[in-house]
Amino acid sequence: MSKVAIVYHSAAGHTAALAQSAAEGVRDAGADPILLSLDGGDFAPVLEAVAAADAVIFGAPTFMGDLSAGFRAFAEASAGAWYGQAWKDKLAAGFTVSGSYSGDKLNSLTSLAVFAAQHGMVWVSTGLLPGHAYGKVGPEDVNRLGSFLGVMAQADNAPADVTPPSGDHRTVRLLGARVAEAARRWKAGAPEAVAQAA
Ligand SMILES: Cc1cc2nc3c(=O)[nH]c(=O)nc-3n(C[C@H](O)[C@H](O)[C@H](O)COP(=O)(O)O)c2cc1C
Repeated sequence: MSKVAIVYHSAAGHTAALAQSAAEGVRDAGADPILLSLDGGDFAPVLEAVAAADAVIFGAPTFMGDLSAGFRAFAEASAGAWYGQAWKDKLAAGFTVSGSYSGDKLNSLTSLAVFAAQHGMVWVSTGLLPGHAYGKVGPEDVNRLGSFLGVMAQADNAPADVTPPSGDHRTVRLLGARVAEAARRWKAGAPEAVAQAA
């Protein structure tokens, strides 16, 4: 069974709630989710768990137009793993949440993709058409904010059991399932692909 680590920072609980939905998606696809919060600031066990995972979903709120400092601290603490390329060829994907519909969230997703690329990881997109393609951009709709690089969620100024709305939870759940399925194929297909190329 593939192991998918979900590494997230959350100050007010919205990212943490979305991480739970990502874990549901991983389970939907028959894989094993490992939820890893960065909120305590103890990164050593997280770094170890990521090294043991097949794929990683990174999550962080957008603060001041980019990843939260809590996530950035983890990124910098991963320099040892980067130096040894310990995460190379693992699959990676990401999600972010902010207060505004835009809120410069694309910048955060780009930062996550660059972070994964620095580690030699293979980035997995959402694989979802935007909600507007179906005329569905309401709070209960999948990919209502129309993001391809990673999942964008939007939270009102309310607790995490109220917001983000169900559509954002469904979207990140689909990402969890997609990453888990991609990890299964990546693991199963790699030896065959190598044999074919030889
Ligand atoms: C310091 C700070 C900076 C923020 N910057 C942005 C921002 O640039 N764009 C935006 O739309 N929301 C911004 N927000 C709102 C948060 O992204 C939003 O409340 C998010 O849901 C918080 O996620 P969390 O509950 O996981 O901490 C900011 C909030 C804080 C506290």
